[in-house]
Amino acid sequence: MEEVRVTPWEAEAFVDYDRLIKVFGAKPLTEREVSALKSLTGELHPMVRRYVFYSHRDFDIYLERLRSGARCALYTGRGPSGYTHLGHILPWIFTKWLQDRLGLELFFQMTDDEKFWHDERLELSESNAYAYENSLDLIALGFDYRKTHIIVDSEDIGYLYPIATRVAKKITYSVQRATFGFTDSTNVGLVFYPVLQIAVSFLPTELYDEPTEVLIPAGIDQDPYWRIARDIAPSLGYPKPAQIHNKLLPGLGPEGKMSSSKPETAIYTTDPPEVASQKVMRAFTGGQPTVELQRRLGGNPDRCSVYKMYEMLFEEDDEKLRERYWSCRTGALLCGECKAQLAPRVATFLQDFQKRRERARDVVDRYLLRGKFEKPRVRKS
Ligand code: TRP
Repeated sequence: MEEVRVTPWEAEAFVDYDRLIKVFGAKPLTEREVSALKSLTGELHPMVRRYVFYSHRDFDIYLERLRSGARCALYTGRGPSGYTHLGHILPWIFTKWLQDRLGLELFFQMTDDEKFWHDERLELSESNAYAYENSLDLIALGFDYRKTHIIVDSEDIGYLYPIATRVAKKITYSVQRATFGFTDSTNVGLVFYPVLQIAVSFLPTELYDEPTEVLIPAGIDQDPYWRIARDIAPSLGYPKPAQIHNKLLPGLGPEGKMSSSKPETAIYTTDPPEVASQKVMRAFTGGQPTVELQRRLGGNPDRCSVYKMYEMLFEEDDEKLRERYWSCRTGALLCGECKAQLAPRVATFLQDFQKRRERARDVVDRYLLRGKFEKPRVRKS
């Protein structure tokens, strides 16, 4: 089978998501799950209506358990290797919506250890500092501190270790290597790390001392972790965590997901609004090389990073989005106009966001898991 270039560390921009679902063995999100969600939430988030969240594992079962009154929680996370960009907050926005609509607590893992092990040039003190910087972004999105618990790996390992030890014993090196592509020169920190990401999916059960169904909204690039988690969960006495996967926000350049390795193609929450506007104006689009050709042949919104920004984040109104799609396709809308309309939306969003982000500095402590929960006890599995 041909290789798909989506791993936890790299991804193309316009991925063939149908193939990815097959290769990863996940299920496409269908009207069935969407309407089950709607019956619980009353209305649907645009990211669900538009299938930005498009595939899942056991999301249907999770909703069923939720409906029948089972203890449930949410889990997601971030590898703090730098400042946060829009691609990172995309799943968090949806997670916040789920938290509000379903009244769920969220466990949020900041993997400063992972990023330290992964990136040659990063000091642990730096990734740790980014864990707190990135927490500001989470808080700026409006998460409720009473229901949101941030775990910083390097500092909160005592919460994870009683679970991690038992998880580690279930995973052989050959499974690790096959799943993550480790080689002989991979440092053993990275080899151990998946154990910690998996451990958090079992943490709510320990903290609540009650079997807890966990839903993980995240990019499909994180799926390898959950495949292992689901395989070993029953033998450890934990429910299998469910997933709902989002598509990756394309970067503003000609290829690749929005990524910190190409800062000129990523919009950071800390970018001065005018810098962000410039990045939008310089974005690579799905347009034709000349105005004449664009008028005659139309553009390709399906392969356009600017259109995707509207679709995934900046246009809530379905009707207006459709109009934009077709005026692009028919050549009525030129890329320059389309970008010029997006730039101020992005700038205004950032202005507001940055105010909330600064205010968040005073309240980060309230969001930290430590101090809110007792450490899990070592128990018989
Ligand atoms: N490994 C993820 C990253 O590099 C961070 C992470 C930890 C995560 N736990 C998670 C992401 C749970 C999604 C869901 O970004």
